[in-house]
Amino acid sequence: MNMDKEPLLFIHNLSKEFGPIKALKNVSINFRRGEIHIILGENGAGKTTLAKILAGIYRIDSGDIILDGRKIRIRNTKDSLKNGIAIVSQYPKLIEQLTVAENLLLAMDKYGYLNTTKSIEKDAKEIINRYGLNIDLNKKVYTLSFSERQRVEILKALLLKPKVLILDEPTTLLTDKEKLHLYKFINSLRNEGRLIIVITHRIDEALNIGDRITILRNGEVITTIDKKNANKEMIIHEMFGATVEKEKQLKLSKRNGPGDTVLSVVGVDIYDDYGNKILENITLELREGEIHGVFGLAGSGLKELGETLYGLREYSGGKITILGQDLRRIDRDEMANMVGYIPDNILKSLILDLNIEQNYRVKQRLWRIQENYMEHIINKFRIKAESLKQNAGTLSGGNLQKLAVSREIILKPKILIAINPTKALDHISIETLHNIFMEYINEGGSILLLSEDINEVIDISDIVSVITKRKLRTLERGINKREHVLELLA
Ligand SMILES: Nc1ncnc2c1ncn2[C@@H]1O[C@H](COP(=O)(O)OP(=O)(O)OP(=O)(O)O)[C@@H](O)[C@H]1O
Ligand SMILES: [Mg+2]
Repeated sequence: MNMDKEPLLFIHNLSKEFGPIKALKNVSINFRRGEIHIILGENGAGKTTLAKILAGIYRIDSGDIILDGRKIRIRNTKDSLKNGIAIVSQYPKLIEQLTVAENLLLAMDKYGYLNTTKSIEKDAKEIINRYGLNIDLNKKVYTLSFSERQRVEILKALLLKPKVLILDEPTTLLTDKEKLHLYKFINSLRNEGRLIIVITHRIDEALNIGDRITILRNGEVITTIDKKNANKEMIIHEMFGATVEKEKQLKLSKRNGPGDTVLSVVGVDIYDDYGNKILENITLELREGEIHGVFGLAGSGLKELGETLYGLREYSGGKITILGQDLRRIDRDEMANMVGYIPDNILKSLILDLNIEQNYRVKQRLWRIQENYMEHIINKFRIKAESLKQNAGTLSGGNLQKLAVSREIILKPKILIAINPTKALDHISIETLHNIFMEYINEGGSILLLSEDINEVIDISDIVSVITKRKLRTLERGINKREHVLELLA
């Protein structure tokens, strides 16, 4: 018997329900040692639920988990770690006021790994250097971007030296370079004979790094395939079934062309959380009826730019004008009325303990909104939820993102400032959202799209800017090809 093909982990007939929601239905998967096994599926398919079961965060209703030929019970995180299973969660859960090193120490302590600060820092530094993770152990977490936090979570799991490593959407916001580092790293773990389970909704990523791919849809295993036998079209079909064709027809492109200036920035300096100038002498214009896409890497100041324009940060130098008013004169309520805002970290804008309806309503101006309108919005955005009464905290990652985005354009503000709006969304959901953006633009809305996804910026922007080396440069209107953007980045 070929050792490589021997299952390391075998899950058999797993089922998990949350009240009326059947998150997993009789799921059976055979995971081999020394493979990168991708779990692929649309938003809400059940991927995270499966990961959480293996990590001891959720308990199964029925089914068996067999590791190394032995049936095991996973009742909590400790059980899972004891069996050599570690997980990197979809959303970083770090303590804001502590440094990275302190967070690592706390986590190891919680897992029952008694370590001194020094030895953890030493181990952490070794991993950081070996895999080029680019993490500053002394930084306070509240100053970190989403992608930096994600890296810290990866580091946290690596410190445990696991036999089975589960990564739940590990590259949501990593730069291309960081992704390559991570992939290289995953490969070396695989070559050591470990099992790596990567959960993703990204088809390219699955085909790029996976050895085998299991597709989940609606809580069921559709198929497990060898990468050698897979291609993009077939995967899309297996992932989404019949919804694919329906969405394609929707693609809107009609535009009215740019109108009046609705947002302007002239000669402004922008600061990071340490008070360091992160962007210098920024000049930027957004006009009615257009999408102005700004591309920048994580940590480039993209997030700070968005936060400044929404009035959340101090700035100096020139002037910021929103709908004819000086930003310094606009109070929070006025701002919320004029501008929709999607932050980098949506957990800052949503309240997980409240249900969907309440999350729509907590935005002061949404008290009067009708229930059937909210239902219409949920359908339009394809938010997978049992009802308006479902708690936001129990939505899947992608559906939570859709909730955050939909809430901001539900009443058609004049301007939408969106930081990485399609983060965590699956292939079809991105198309759906881009279509919704187009519709909003055609109705006179304007979008400042601040995105770390170069393809998104190129695909839907009327005018493109690039942030690089603390400067923002805008390409001539109509010039928005990939090579132009890369030229500016170089
Ligand atoms: N604690 C919970 N309570 C109630 N429902 C839940 C809970 N956790 C998950 N669900 C539901 O189970 C289904 C599957 O969710 P899951 O998070 O596993 O999806 P996913 O495949 O990871 O999607 P995404 O790509 O959006 O992250 C969803 O309908 C979700 O709302
Ligand atoms: Mg998920």
